[in-house]
Amino acid sequence: MTQRIRDISQQGQPGEVITLQGWVRTRRSTKGLTFININDGSSMAGLQVVVNAELPDYESILKQLSTGASVSISGTLVESPGKGQRVEVQASQITVFGAADPETYPLQKKRHSFEFLRTLGHLRSRTNTLGAVFRVRNACAQAIHQFFQDQGFLWVHTPILTASDCEGAGELFTVTSLDLEQLPHTQAGAVDFSQDFFGKPAYLTVSGQLEAEIMAMAFTNVYTFGPTFRAENSNTSRHLAEFWMVEPEMAFCDLDGAMDWAEAFLKHVFRTVLEQCPEDMDFFNQRIDTSVLATAENILAHEFERITYSEAVTLLAKADRSFEFPVEWGVDLQSEHERYLTEEVFKKPVIVTDYPAAIKAFYMRLNQDGNTVRAMDVLAPKVGEIIGGSQREERLEVLERRIQTAGLPLEDYWWYLDLRRYGTVPHAGFGLGFERLVQFMTGMANIRDVIPFPRTPDNVEF
Ligand code: 4AD
Ligand code: MG
Repeated sequence: MTQRIRDISQQGQPGEVITLQGWVRTRRSTKGLTFININDGSSMAGLQVVVNAELPDYESILKQLSTGASVSISGTLVESPGKGQRVEVQASQITVFGAADPETYPLQKKRHSFEFLRTLGHLRSRTNTLGAVFRVRNACAQAIHQFFQDQGFLWVHTPILTASDCEGAGELFTVTSLDLEQLPHTQAGAVDFSQDFFGKPAYLTVSGQLEAEIMAMAFTNVYTFGPTFRAENSNTSRHLAEFWMVEPEMAFCDLDGAMDWAEAFLKHVFRTVLEQCPEDMDFFNQRIDTSVLATAENILAHEFERITYSEAVTLLAKADRSFEFPVEWGVDLQSEHERYLTEEVFKKPVIVTDYPAAIKAFYMRLNQDGNTVRAMDVLAPKVGEIIGGSQREERLEVLERRIQTAGLPLEDYWWYLDLRRYGTVPHAGFGLGFERLVQFMTGMANIRDVIPFPRTPDNVEF
C-alpha cells in the first residue's frame, strides 16, 4: 500500500525508505538541486522532495516535473533543514505518470480568485484552499455521524424522490421522464409534465423531515444526512439549489430539548474539527478570515443566546442604525437583521424562537396565543441562519386545521395525520444546512466554494 503524505510527514523517521505518490505543487532549482513539493490531498503542507542531479535521467525527468504533474517517488527520509517541516525526501527514483504542460495547465503557482476557480470545477480541488475546505467538510461529516451515533440516534435514509412539499413553500423541482411516450397526454394532445413519475407527480425532496418523523415514531431518536433540493432562484452567497441537510428528529422532546440538542451538536462538531484539522483551520485563520479560530473558541466557551422572535423584533426596532428592510412584528427576519443580532448585539450564535405562525411551515406546534409557533432558527455570525427547526404539532385536530389554513390538500397528508392518530407524542427536530456549517467553520465567503460541485441557477456543469 502506498503511504500517504500526511502520515509520512507526521510519523516518518530519518533513514526510512518510503514511496509516495501525488501531484507536483511547486518546483524550484538551485545549483544542481531541485526542490519539489508533492501533495496527495492528505494534508495542507504536502512533502518536500529533493532531486539531485545524480538521479538517473535527471534532465529528462526534470523537464516533466512541473506543477500539476503526477508522480511516484521513492527515496530516503532525512531531517529537513527547512522551517515548518520535520522531514523531507531525498529522491532515488521518480516515475512520472502524467506531465502537465506548463503552457496550458491553468493552475500555476500564482493565487487565483475563487470566482476564476469556479470555472475550473474539475481542477480547483487541487488548490490549497479548496483542499482545506474539503478536508474540513469531511471532518464535519464524520463528527456529525459520531455525535448522533454516540447518542444512540438511528441514521435513517429518506427518499430523494418524494410526493410531498415538506416546507409548503412551492420550491420543488419536478421529476420528468425523458421517455415522452410513457408520459400521459392532456386532452389537447400535449405531454403532461405534471404527471411524469409513471403517471404521478414526483419531486426532488426539499427536506427529509416528514419521513424522519415517521421513523422517530418507531425509533425515538433518528437523523437524516443527505442531499436536498430547492428551486429558489436566489443568486446569493448562502443559497444552493442542491445542498446537504442533517435532520435529527426526537420523539418525547419539546422545543427546549431541541435547542439543547442543537447547541450540544454544533459544539461537538466544532470541537472535533479543531482537534482533527488544526493545520487547515490555521490556514483559514491566516488566509481567509482572521476571526475563524476566535469564532470557534467563542462557540465552545459560551452558551448560545436564546430569545423569542418578539424580543428580536424589539431589539431590531431600537437598533442605532437603519436596515434596508424595515422590521415590524410579522415580517420574516432578513440576513441583515440576523447579522445585527449575532454580530453586534450578542456577538455569538443566537437561537430565535416562537415566530409568527403565518411565516412558518404548517407542521410547527401552535402556541397558546394562537399567533406564534414553537419554531427555532439558530443564527450564526456572518452566515445567518444555519439551523431551522421546531417542535412539531402533535395534536390531530390542530394539525388538520393548520394544513387546511396553509391551503394544502388534507388527503395528501393522511399518513402524516395517522402518526397523530396512533400513538402521537410531543416531538421536535431541526435541519442543519451542511454547507452553511462548513462556511461558518472555514470563513469562506461564498457557499459555492464549500461544496465540490455547486448547483446554482447559474451552474450545472458536469
Ligand atoms: O429552515 P429550513 O427550510 O428547514 C427545513 O427544511 C426543516 N424541514 C428542517 C427540520 O426541521 N427538519 O432549512 C434548514 C436549513 C436552513 O437553516 C439552512 O441552513 C439550510 O437548511 N438551507 C439552505 N442551505 C443552502 N442553500 C439553500 N437554498 C438552503 N435552504 C435552506
Ligand atoms: Mg428556515
